[in-house]
Amino acid sequence: MSFDKDEMLDKTKNYVKAQLLDAEPGHDWLHVQRVHDTAMLLAEGENVDHFVIQLGAYLHDIGDAKFNNGNEKIGISKIASFLHSIAVPEMIIDSVIKIVEHISFRKHFEHSDYRSRELEILQDADRLDAIGAIGIARAFSFGAYKGNPFYDPQKKPDQNINKKTYIKGSAPTINHFYEKLLKLKSMMNTSRGRMMATDRHRFMVNYLRQFYREANIDHSIYENS
Ligand code: ADP
Ligand code: NI
Repeated sequence: MSFDKDEMLDKTKNYVKAQLLDAEPGHDWLHVQRVHDTAMLLAEGENVDHFVIQLGAYLHDIGDAKFNNGNEKIGISKIASFLHSIAVPEMIIDSVIKIVEHISFRKHFEHSDYRSRELEILQDADRLDAIGAIGIARAFSFGAYKGNPFYDPQKKPDQNINKKTYIKGSAPTINHFYEKLLKLKSMMNTSRGRMMATDRHRFMVNYLRQFYREANIDHSIYENS
């Protein structure tokens, strides 16, 4: 079957850009572009469908419940009807939808047997954007949006955080490093992703050390929690 992939990718890019015009900096077009570029890098030399990865990268946050008042179905049907409207073949739509349904960090709280290499690559790319220098910027940006304090030595990180508390996201931003960001390095699916995560992880650890020095707080409450 022949179809014009470049035209479909262009249409998808324009659709996503328009949807994200007022997006907050944590999930704007620049985030989508970074996830796309990192995913393409991770896909080099892998036996995967690059078209599925590209569509998945562009659309991965459009379907997210947090942009649809917590509803997990609305975003998914929005994506499906968009892909139908530009005549993407059914099998490809199915793969992209599966990716969008499973990519989020929140999903690891639930069990699912679905796997695809394309999903694993996109998940690594999205997670890499949550750590390192950009990840730190995104965390504080999210915290500011929620009105959370940078830190509160009275509030220990919740090491057994569940889906509900994670979504609520009302803890001090420093806690989020222990509740999610420092865990991502060991959750990578690809070896290249793991290498990139190791570098970004090291940067975050150094950042936290400097943070505690400047804030003059005892870091043991974080590191021993
Ligand atoms: P995902 O899409 O993988 O489920 P989220 O949308 O929950 O991830 O997170 C988007 C960005 O906001 C990430 O960089 C994440 O680390 C950050 N973030 C999420 N929850 C918090 C929080 N409670 N405090 C600070 N940053 C957060
Ligand atoms: Ni994302």
